[in-house]
Amino acid sequence: MNILAIESSCDDTAAAVVRDGREVLSNCVNSQIEMHTIYGGVVPEIASRKHVEAVSGLCTQALADAGMTTADLDAIAVTYAPGLIGAVLVGVNFAKGAAMALDLPLIPVHHVRGHIAANYLTHPGLEPPFVCLCVSGGTTAIVDVRSYTEMEIMGGTRDDAAGECFDKVARVLGIGYPGGGPMDRLAREGDDSRYELPRVHVKGAELDMSFSGLKTASLNLIHNSQQKGEELNLPDFAASFGRAVSESLVPRIIEAARQKGYGKIAVAGGVAANSRIRNDLTAACAREGWQLYLPELRYCGDNSAMIGCQGYYEYLAGRRGGLDLNAYATRDISLG
Ligand code: KG4
Repeated sequence: MNILAIESSCDDTAAAVVRDGREVLSNCVNSQIEMHTIYGGVVPEIASRKHVEAVSGLCTQALADAGMTTADLDAIAVTYAPGLIGAVLVGVNFAKGAAMALDLPLIPVHHVRGHIAANYLTHPGLEPPFVCLCVSGGTTAIVDVRSYTEMEIMGGTRDDAAGECFDKVARVLGIGYPGGGPMDRLAREGDDSRYELPRVHVKGAELDMSFSGLKTASLNLIHNSQQKGEELNLPDFAASFGRAVSESLVPRIIEAARQKGYGKIAVAGGVAANSRIRNDLTAACAREGWQLYLPELRYCGDNSAMIGCQGYYEYLAGRRGGLDLNAYATRDISLG
């Protein structure tokens, strides 16, 4: 089954052709980062306009790269939520129009389910059940992946997402947008015990997290050192920050896996590219004797191959949205 998949939930327009959920025949991404860097963050209106400009050409390119025409397609999958509403609507409306014109089924895919599915592309042998740490710019959640389409959130952030925290702190440091990658690279040279930063525990909800306190403490530390004229050691700060994030995430996904007894952990989303988190998880899973699944770096951030992969499983489970996507709210946090 050949699926053309479209993703436009934030600042990347993406189109891919995926066969039977696991075989990526093409994967095209048009990044808007250069444009949003001017403003230090994503400007939703600009993002929507750039998606409008890119989406049609990218789909044509995805088909060409796959060596196909529209006649070879069996369905169209599209990210329907969550995301910047104007941005999501560009992809959804393009997909609706294409599905109607080509008389193909339209498959709505939840963005976070797509991130989880990125692991199937990297690890052909991976099958549910497993627990997944979903960490991106907009989401931080621990998900019980019972089957390809049955999932339950076991815990998550009460406020900021981990990626958002990386981005906001990096912006104040002036080291670029999005900030996770530059912070990660700086951290590799630093001393992670130099600066003391908080790890938050949510009383009575051991799998929940909070990153707003870490963000505020980091911003205060940066501003205080600026006011006192003291030079902040950037690599040491980035390493201390990365350690605080990792020590907030890793013990919780380990606890979730212990509770479920699956012996399998996966990681998903842009922050899954973080080397500190990858190393700490690798060590923790080795200690426990569990399997760890890390997505390839190209499938960590937003892409549409992951949407095509998850779209296949949604289709098999009978989730075909037809042309009426109104049933699917844009702020669906239940992974439904
Ligand atoms: O998955 P993604 O591309 O978009 C969302 O669905 O949100 O994730 C983007 C996030 C950004 O916050 C970015 O700073 C973060 O992923 N990120 C990283 C790294 N690479 C990207 N965070 C930490 N370390 C990295 N190496």
